[in-house]
Amino acid sequence: DNASLWGGRFTEATDSFVQRFTASVSFDQRMAAQDIRGSLAHAQMLTGAGILSAEEHEAIVEGLARVQEEINNGDFPWSVEREDVHMNIEARLTALIGDAGKKLHTGRSRNDQVATDIRLYLRDAIDAICEELTRLQKGLVGLAHTHAATVMPGFTHLQGAQPVTFGHHMLAWNEMLERDYGRLEDCRARMNQCPLGAAALAGTTFPIDRARTSDALGFDQPTRNSLDSVSDRDFAIEFTAASALILTHLSRMSEELVLWTSAQFQFVELPDRFCTGSSIMPQKKNPDVPELVRGKTGRVNGHLVALLTLMKSQPLAYNKDNQEDKEPLFDCIDTVLDCLRAFGDMVPHIKPREARLREAARAGFATATDLADYLVRKGLPFRDAHEVVGKAVAEGVRLETDLADMSLDRLQSFSELIGEDVFDVLTVEGSVAARDHLGGTAPAQVTSAATDAATRLESR
Ligand code: ARG
Repeated sequence: DNASLWGGRFTEATDSFVQRFTASVSFDQRMAAQDIRGSLAHAQMLTGAGILSAEEHEAIVEGLARVQEEINNGDFPWSVEREDVHMNIEARLTALIGDAGKKLHTGRSRNDQVATDIRLYLRDAIDAICEELTRLQKGLVGLAHTHAATVMPGFTHLQGAQPVTFGHHMLAWNEMLERDYGRLEDCRARMNQCPLGAAALAGTTFPIDRARTSDALGFDQPTRNSLDSVSDRDFAIEFTAASALILTHLSRMSEELVLWTSAQFQFVELPDRFCTGSSIMPQKKNPDVPELVRGKTGRVNGHLVALLTLMKSQPLAYNKDNQEDKEPLFDCIDTVLDCLRAFGDMVPHIKPREARLREAARAGFATATDLADYLVRKGLPFRDAHEVVGKAVAEGVRLETDLADMSLDRLQSFSELIGEDVFDVLTVEGSVAARDHLGGTAPAQVTSAATDAATRLESR
């Protein structure tokens, strides 16, 4: 009976519903490998400090190896009576090796244990996410190289604004992800401190060596305050916030891909294998992958709010509330990894429809600013040039004629500063080529920006 779980303090067994309600083993068994790793480091440190004998240490190492094997083979006897991953593993270890198993928890609490396990788990997850981010970014940079000179419409207010290049657009997406990568790195660096030794909240009476466990587990250093160590989950919130931004960025890309693949835009083609059809409409090819990624953003935003709300107003130090951190965190990790994988697989195969993009880039008087800039170079103040071109556009709207398609005579009727050379600036190619400075959309700039981006990605 499970009254024995808590030793002598209790006179009746936990209510069976309460047992299920308070247990976390169904979801925290995901951290079993990290729990074992932490226990190995702790046992080694205890042995070094003379708290465990060499024989006991050996038994623990062998026993934990067997536990790990049972877990890997799927025949570990997980039990809800043992509440969580920590007690399940300790109980099984004791069943396997006897008294040495009971000594493992010396100088430790589940509070510093769980704080350690989550950090170890999240650290690996961040590394995996960073790898997927890098793969996706390489895909974007590859597209940018290939399409450094592919002209497309640039939008503000989703109205045609000025021509840009497709490569430039891909590099804009890449910049967003580059910052996301930096946020994950920051989060990882702040998180990478070892809580072991904080024990329940106040530290321990045993002569532990915190630097040793910290080193063994690859942390940068031990945490500085025992109360804080076991209580805060700000690193999980930070990670989830960084994840929410990743998904937010992916949702923006998704939205554009959904628009761009429509019959009304026809800007790009997605491979069939990333799309699905309709059970009724035979013509349909739906961009499910970007749509679903867009939708999953809501889920991750929800996890962020859940964790913030979980942490809010918690008094020091550990509170059981914190057991609720795991499901949002794990789902956040899974979702981000899946979405990045979907994008990483899909992006290199996006096919821009160049002729269609060029035609769309011309629509809506997209080179009107170029004409205004041209007049400025001929000596007109910009505000006056803006007015002149505005009148030319109004005429174009009336005649349904683009500026580039007007005769020189007609253009000169708006300003005698306009000469034959005006047509060089009114083409979409002229327009993008003229924005030839750091961060601009000129093909030469896009090529060198893509080269720089590729170099940064290689040196990660
Ligand atoms: N399952 C618990 C959690 O996830 C482990 C720590 C439990 N500590 C305690 N004092 N009940 O937070």
